[in-house]
Amino acid sequence: MSNKDAWGSRLGIILAVTGSAVGLGNFLRFPGLAAKYGGGTFMIPYFTAFLLLGLPIAYIEWAIARYGGTRGFHSAPGIFRTLWSNKAAPYLGVLGLIVPVGIYMYYVFIEAWCLYYAWGFITGALNLGTDVAAYKGFFESFTGSGGNGVLFHNFSPALISLLVCYVLNFFFVYRGIAGIERISRWGMPILLVIALIVLVRVMTLGTPNPAYPERNVLNGLGHLWNPPQQGILTSLANAQLWMDAAGQIFFSLSVGFGVIINYASYLNKKDDIMLSATTAAAGNEFAEVGLGGLITVPAAFVFLGAAGIGGTFGLGFVSLPAVFAHMPFGQFFGSIWFFLLFIAAITSSVSMVQPGIAFLEEGLNLNRKKSSAVLLVITLVGSLFVAYYSAGLEALDTMDFWAGTFFIFVLALFQVVVAGWLFGVENVLKEAAEGSRMRIPKFLPVVIKYVCPAFLGTVFVFWCIQKLPEQWAKMQSNPVTQISVIFLFGALALFLVLTHFAVLNWKKGTAGSAA
Ligand code: ALA
Repeated sequence: MSNKDAWGSRLGIILAVTGSAVGLGNFLRFPGLAAKYGGGTFMIPYFTAFLLLGLPIAYIEWAIARYGGTRGFHSAPGIFRTLWSNKAAPYLGVLGLIVPVGIYMYYVFIEAWCLYYAWGFITGALNLGTDVAAYKGFFESFTGSGGNGVLFHNFSPALISLLVCYVLNFFFVYRGIAGIERISRWGMPILLVIALIVLVRVMTLGTPNPAYPERNVLNGLGHLWNPPQQGILTSLANAQLWMDAAGQIFFSLSVGFGVIINYASYLNKKDDIMLSATTAAAGNEFAEVGLGGLITVPAAFVFLGAAGIGGTFGLGFVSLPAVFAHMPFGQFFGSIWFFLLFIAAITSSVSMVQPGIAFLEEGLNLNRKKSSAVLLVITLVGSLFVAYYSAGLEALDTMDFWAGTFFIFVLALFQVVVAGWLFGVENVLKEAAEGSRMRIPKFLPVVIKYVCPAFLGTVFVFWCIQKLPEQWAKMQSNPVTQISVIFLFGALALFLVLTHFAVLNWKKGTAGSAA
């Protein structure tokens, strides 16, 4: 049992939760989405989802986590069991395991790309000139777009980088909460300093190419932030926009992720919840809107124009490397930028491993060493699976669809219903108020009980109606999509079985808390 784990300080947990939240979602996914929907328009559903879903559900997660933690549980199945006496409760909580584990399997692969790109810039291996096509070619061969299994032929750089990331992640997580606190305490300030340096560089780029006077920083910012001159209401009527905005809020805040529910379970009754949760969420928004939003798209715009920006991966791994090649001291800026992405990614990925390890410890009575080893094997098989099916990044996309969006929505919905209705909104807020250094807003009970489920439920139903048929058609025509779905649901089944054993142990009082 892991109840000897505890946060060293209030700042420690705030930095760890912020570290989990600030990740590739802030610096790559958010700018990609904002640019896609014409920035200004995107910000309306984005901030609505932040205020009505992200923040309230973060409060719920912090509160129920500490409630379960002070009763001896640190995993979602155990915590759900303390909230609702129904037999189904721990089995619903299994989503709090498969979401972080499933996302980790592909997220760490992208983290490995960032690490390798940082290395490539430092050594000059990524010095490919200013032609975007050269970086596109490099990215495709580096990530194994050429065909399934190609990364395994010669022990490719991407695979070596992946293994290095595995060693680093498990090195920190193996040390428990103290290890996670340590990497967050170091990582977050480093990340902030690098982001500010790169931000100043981008904001002072001016009009680098006089042949294209319209490609200047102001227009770059305008491209991201200005709403369209007309038709904003028509754009807002697009359900897809609201779904993407809500999905981004969850992904970015690490809410509905099974992470906060674990991290905050190591707090005690005297610790503050409300202010810490608000601070971590605000820190994430600063990094996302204030840093991520101001760096990537304007930088790509001033050198490559609107057409050169590209989607999330295109922007991050094709356009930006070419942008750095255009800049004075580009090699330096390129290496610190990709190092920043790597730090952002690793402080997020360690948070995805910890919930699974805590579950194996408290549910199956394994010690830290054994539980880390079991989770290492499960996640490594998944990451190698993603790396093997590299053609068109098909396995990665499918895992992102199910674990990174669908399961997140379902887990968030379960949490809102279990906490707000079954455990009771008054109990959630009573827990949140204990030790709180911030007053609970008067409207919060109504938001938690009615607004969250209605808003989330509506977005989710629309999402299913639009996306599931597409995914089904893809499964019919693409065998890799099919096996990826089977693989992920197989992992879900495995965790359901493990949860069943945990429940039996908890009943017998032979593992975790006998509560
Ligand atoms: N919250 C993490 C991110 O934004 C997962 O990347």
